[in-house]
Amino acid sequence: MTEADAIDTQDEQPDNSQQAGREQRYTGEYPIVVEGLTNRFGDQVVHEDLSLKVRRGEILGVVGGSGTGKSVLMRSIIGLQVPQEGHIEVFGRSITDADPDETLGVRNRWGVLFQGGALFSTLTVGENVQVPLKQFYPEIGSELLDEIARFKVVLTGLSAEAAAKYPSELSGGMKKRAGLARALALDPELLFLDEPTAGLDPIGAAAFDRLTRELADTLGLTVFLITHDLDTLYEICDRVAVLADKKVIAIGTIPELLESDHPWIDEYFNGPRGRAAKDSHDRAKADSKAIDSAPDKGA
Ligand SMILES: Nc1ncnc2c1ncn2[C@@H]1O[C@H](COP(=O)(O)OP(=O)(O)O)[C@@H](O)[C@H]1O
Ligand SMILES: [Mg+2]
Repeated sequence: MTEADAIDTQDEQPDNSQQAGREQRYTGEYPIVVEGLTNRFGDQVVHEDLSLKVRRGEILGVVGGSGTGKSVLMRSIIGLQVPQEGHIEVFGRSITDADPDETLGVRNRWGVLFQGGALFSTLTVGENVQVPLKQFYPEIGSELLDEIARFKVVLTGLSAEAAAKYPSELSGGMKKRAGLARALALDPELLFLDEPTAGLDPIGAAAFDRLTRELADTLGLTVFLITHDLDTLYEICDRVAVLADKKVIAIGTIPELLESDHPWIDEYFNGPRGRAAKDSHDRAKADSKAIDSAPDKGA
């Protein structure tokens, strides 16, 4: 029945008379379905028969060693990397078997923060946010563009004044938020984040994690979140998918993954860093309970 939900929406073909017009929100169970994916670069096989389903409304953490093909997987899902084999559907519509014109109606329903999150350095933050808006909705006037951009900037916790700043004037954490504002420009249902907290200090990373969770909850987003940050997995991910051996070898909640006897998973979650992240997560939970129940928090 869940499959049927996904297939239902396939009947809604894109309406070319209003190309950038919005399709209805996806109501099926799996906004992303990847089946039998194979990606090769020359002799190098990155993915082989990889399958994955992302649930609507979840934050899915995607982990795996460096070079296991996390970014390539994301690029395949958004149609930037054409796989040798396999089938990918987003919002019940084929990404792999459609030409770009046909997928216009789905491409404006996701937002992406690429690894490194590069903003256009010659554009202000506000102008950066306007780039996707202008691309998909060329008819929007400049005043409205400014207003939407300012709203997105504020939504990510930056001040409205930050919209007029250039990327070089921002701290690392602010740049990530600006990149997130750009990813949210089109009011996406689906958000792709590729290592968003890499390079941030632990406090900045934790703040960005909280922002991601808050935005996902308030805007009803599904989030495909590539990360190597164990704290991020513990704090905000509903499930975690593990890439190894060219496949998604496991997907589930962290307690479910801890049952796995796959050596990479065991080492990752039960190694020193995994244990430290778990301890810190458990401690933070206990602390917040203690603070909540304290009669007087003191000075
Ligand atoms: N466009 C490309 N051409 C050739 N090799 C690539 C290309 N993109 C990625 N690769 C290779 O594919 C592998 C997976 O890359 P990537 O998905 O970026 O890994 P990660 O899991 O660290 O994000 C790497 O070995 C990388 O060198
Ligand atoms: Mg990567």
